[in-house]
Amino acid sequence: MQGLFPSLEIIVLAAGQGRRMASSLPKVLHTLAGRPLLAHVLDTAAALAPRAIHVVYGHGGERVREAFADAGVDWVVQPAQKGTGDAVRCALPHLDDRSLALVLLGDVPLIGRDTLKALCERASDGAALLTFEAAHENQYGRIVRDARGGVARIVEWRDATPDERRIREANSGVLAAPVARLRHWIPRLTTANAQGELYLTDIVALAVADGVAVATVSPARATEVEGVNSRADLALLERAYQEERAQALMASGAQLMDPRRIDVRGALTTGRDVLIDVNCVFEGQVEIGEGARIGPHCVIRDSRIASGARIEAHCVLDGAEVGSGCVVGPFARLRPGTVLGPRARVGNFVEVKASRVGTDSKINHLSYVGDAVIGAGVNIGAGVITCNYDGARKHRTVIGDGAFIGSDTQLVAPVEVGAGATVGAGTTLTKDAPAGELTLSRVGQKTVSGWRRPEK
Ligand code: UD1
Ligand code: CA
Repeated sequence: MQGLFPSLEIIVLAAGQGRRMASSLPKVLHTLAGRPLLAHVLDTAAALAPRAIHVVYGHGGERVREAFADAGVDWVVQPAQKGTGDAVRCALPHLDDRSLALVLLGDVPLIGRDTLKALCERASDGAALLTFEAAHENQYGRIVRDARGGVARIVEWRDATPDERRIREANSGVLAAPVARLRHWIPRLTTANAQGELYLTDIVALAVADGVAVATVSPARATEVEGVNSRADLALLERAYQEERAQALMASGAQLMDPRRIDVRGALTTGRDVLIDVNCVFEGQVEIGEGARIGPHCVIRDSRIASGARIEAHCVLDGAEVGSGCVVGPFARLRPGTVLGPRARVGNFVEVKASRVGTDSKINHLSYVGDAVIGAGVNIGAGVITCNYDGARKHRTVIGDGAFIGSDTQLVAPVEVGAGATVGAGTTLTKDAPAGELTLSRVGQKTVSGWRRPEK
């Protein structure tokens, strides 16, 4: 394709209102797999290394522009939504005559790069359409072919006769054509149709009348051409997408207890023999090493879990690094900046934030550990709290190797516990605890003999 055209330019149509979404959010900002529909399309567009990406947005679509302010695309406003042909008309002044134009739809998010490459290659001389087999009830435009099987025109569902509606070959809306040819065809479009719009699809009949060949390409996967027009469409496409992700994970050696009960909203990579139990959600970049096991109902975002680690049921991890052989949870929360060394243990109802926990150290029950550096082989008892925040600033707690922190201790930061130190249960530690010694703060215990409980 590079040889035939000095450059490729992509037009993304995103000005439609999406009324059927019944939402105040522009349609292309609705999310699939955790990202706006338009983000999926722009990623695929960028992967084709075009000279430019022109996004046609509508009146009131300022939110779209704002959401993609850093996307490096050319914004084209379409003042009134007068149809897909009008949208392309608005973009044309921004395009170079020598380019090949590829038209994508902002509400068809899963279009694939390889399919688009094939389409562009076929458009070298005339025009190429991405078409597919649709079920009868799906109201896509239909491809009308002539007696010799060549493409004759596209008829929109609303304009089609009952016979035309029976045609199985449907228009995906994605097409490629040389810019110079589009300049010729677009001004000749008319609004003589059921919707009174300028249909981009009518360029096909114009091409045929000009004796220009119109090629068709079909997508590698059915989901590539599925458009989102309603929330029901979006939900179906989300499930289809997740199913594909689940299949790919299993192909790479992960065991999914139920491939229909996993959600990947970002990039999840798994080593061999990773086991993922039901109802886990993965967001952002997540890496799971060989043989690690993720229990049911976990939410894991932007985290790395090393080989052989075990995340038990109901854990929430965000920005955490879990070392090999660690055991986390059930019911643990690891917040950003948590780094667990090999074989560390973080048990139930423990929250860890911006802290390093050394090899073989244990925080097994009901603790809050924030802004701490914990050495190796440390035992943190139940209910230990780092008091890291004075209302204005955060302070650090440092605990040396082999230290033992008794249950219900408050470590009032900044504070340091030396290596091998023992802190007695119930201590409020406000000064450093020396290495190797027992430190405790405790009110003396007394018994009031003969005391009686008040009676009602
Ligand atoms: C369009 C095609 C139809 C195809 C279907 C596939 C036309 C006339 N019809 O129909 O053949 O089967 O897509 O999904 O092209 N848009 C604008 N400005 C406008 C109108 C639309 O930017 O004035 C954008 C929309 O935001 C959307 C895309 O173009 O991303 C398609 O528009 P839509 O109204 O959804 O077209 P369909 O009726 O689905
Ligand atoms: Ca549509």
